[in-house]
Amino acid sequence: MPKLAIVYLSTQGNTKMMAEAIAEGATERHVDVKTENFYEWDPRDAAQYDAIAIGSSTFYYTMLEPIAKFIDKLVEAGVKGKLGAAFGSYGWSGEAPVKIAEKLRQGGMEVIDPVLRIQHRPTEKDLFECNRLGKDLAEKMKHR
Ligand SMILES: Cc1cc2nc3c(=O)[nH]c(=O)nc-3n(C[C@H](O)[C@H](O)[C@H](O)COP(=O)(O)O)c2cc1C
Repeated sequence: MPKLAIVYLSTQGNTKMMAEAIAEGATERHVDVKTENFYEWDPRDAAQYDAIAIGSSTFYYTMLEPIAKFIDKLVEAGVKGKLGAAFGSYGWSGEAPVKIAEKLRQGGMEVIDPVLRIQHRPTEKDLFECNRLGKDLAEKMKHR
């Protein structure tokens, strides 16, 4: 089975809810998924997965330094040609997911659309979107 790593930074659980709904969608499409907070992941391990989805909420119009550093280490470990996804909850401006997608693309990854941004705590409808992103990722992984 193809393997998907889902890595997130979430202070109040909003982005975590998104991560778990993405995981559920991918699992339903028979992909092997590991979902953990970024500080539980070694970026070199995450780099071994077939696809890597990274989520973060937005702080001070950007992503927090620890998740930026995590992505730098992931890219250093080598992720060229792998499939990626970016997502996150936000309050009013929501730059973090866009910047995550940029960094992953600079590292040579193919980042799938959409870069999924949800305002505040995800609703049922939002979680359905997340689940669908997980399914789309899984289908793409299987057809590579
Ligand atoms: C100190 C602080 C700064 C924030 N700065 C931003 C910001 O610049 N832009 C934005 O869209 N949201 C901002 N937010 C809102 C969070 O991104 C939002 O509450 C998000 O839902 C938190 O998701 P999480 O539980 O996954 O961390 C800020 C929140 C806090 C507490």
